[in-house]
Amino acid sequence: MSTATTRAGITALGAYAPERVVTNEDLERLMDTSDEWITTRTGIRRRHVSADDEFTSDLAFRAVDDLIRRHGAGVLDGVDLVIVATNTPDALFPATAALVQDHYGLKAAAFDLLAGCTGWVYALAAAKAFVESGQSRRVLAIGAEALTKVLDWNDRATAVLFGDGAGASIVEAVEMPFGFASMVIGADGSGGKHLHKGSLGRCLPDGTPLGEHLYMNGREVFKFAVRVMDTATVQAIAEAGLTNDDISLFVPHQANLRIIDAARERLRLPPERVVVTVDEYGNSSTASVPLALAHALDTGRLVDGDTILLVSFGAGLTWASSVLTWGGGRG
Ligand code: ACO
Repeated sequence: MSTATTRAGITALGAYAPERVVTNEDLERLMDTSDEWITTRTGIRRRHVSADDEFTSDLAFRAVDDLIRRHGAGVLDGVDLVIVATNTPDALFPATAALVQDHYGLKAAAFDLLAGCTGWVYALAAAKAFVESGQSRRVLAIGAEALTKVLDWNDRATAVLFGDGAGASIVEAVEMPFGFASMVIGADGSGGKHLHKGSLGRCLPDGTPLGEHLYMNGREVFKFAVRVMDTATVQAIAEAGLTNDDISLFVPHQANLRIIDAARERLRLPPERVVVTVDEYGNSSTASVPLALAHALDTGRLVDGDTILLVSFGAGLTWASSVLTWGGGRG
């Protein structure tokens, strides 16, 4: 529970990217595209693609296995809520989170959360609220995504952009100054027509037809992303009572290097304070921010006590941002 000296924070992290790697050169052989077009427009060089028999729950399990490998088997002790943020659940129901709860034998509640690529940061917001209200003590917040399974591989405008992966985190009470200093979440459903994939309905309420594959109006999403990365980061820093200079590491959603660079320039942050993994993973949706955090940890760029800025955006349209001080776990 949140007290005058405690608040929710992330105390453990794990991540997983599928073994199969598809390079831009591989895509050149599949469709009318080029490494030059993809790298100059997006910064993407490779993406990790799930095996044919590897689904979102499998990716989530591998991320939790990595969490255990990094932090020890006790890392799941006392977990009483599992949230899986995903746009590609194995089934409409049961929730993928329930599959995770069963796989690890947890005595925990479980639900999925759908908020486009923003899902994992939304899951952090939910976990924070559950912990600080006293409803939950330890939340396993996962982002797991197999978007390559819903792509139209004949649509070069979207097929080159996405990859698969998963990240898993523990959110629980930590002593200040560790933990979340701010949390911003938002949505503008009028932009739903720009990024969608059908399920049961044939169209959105505004008449936009829904198909079996991911559809994206790249230009509209690009404009939205640049705008919201700016406003959401400024808001998260202000609500934390900090300035840009206090941010030791900026960890944005990895969709497009041009979008990341635009946000970095608006924030006047030097390149060494920004984590970029879009070259390696493409846009892995809800896995993108935790994969970037894991990369920062593995390369020694993120250490306990760092003040970091997270921001994400995605289908909905949705966005979320947060400033937090990393660490504060039991070690
Ligand atoms: N290879 C070669 N040419 C291509 C490709 C490709 N893979 N894809 C499109 N083109 C062509 C187009 O056909 C077009 O040709 P034309 O001018 O002859 O019509 C030309 O390249 C330019 O296309 P644009 O769409 O204008 O390219 P743009 O510079 O806007 O870049 C991109 C496209 C990369 C998709 C960009 O708009 C973007 O990044 N948008 C944001 C995407 C994003 O962030 N999505 C996050 C989603 S989060 C979630 O919840 C899933």
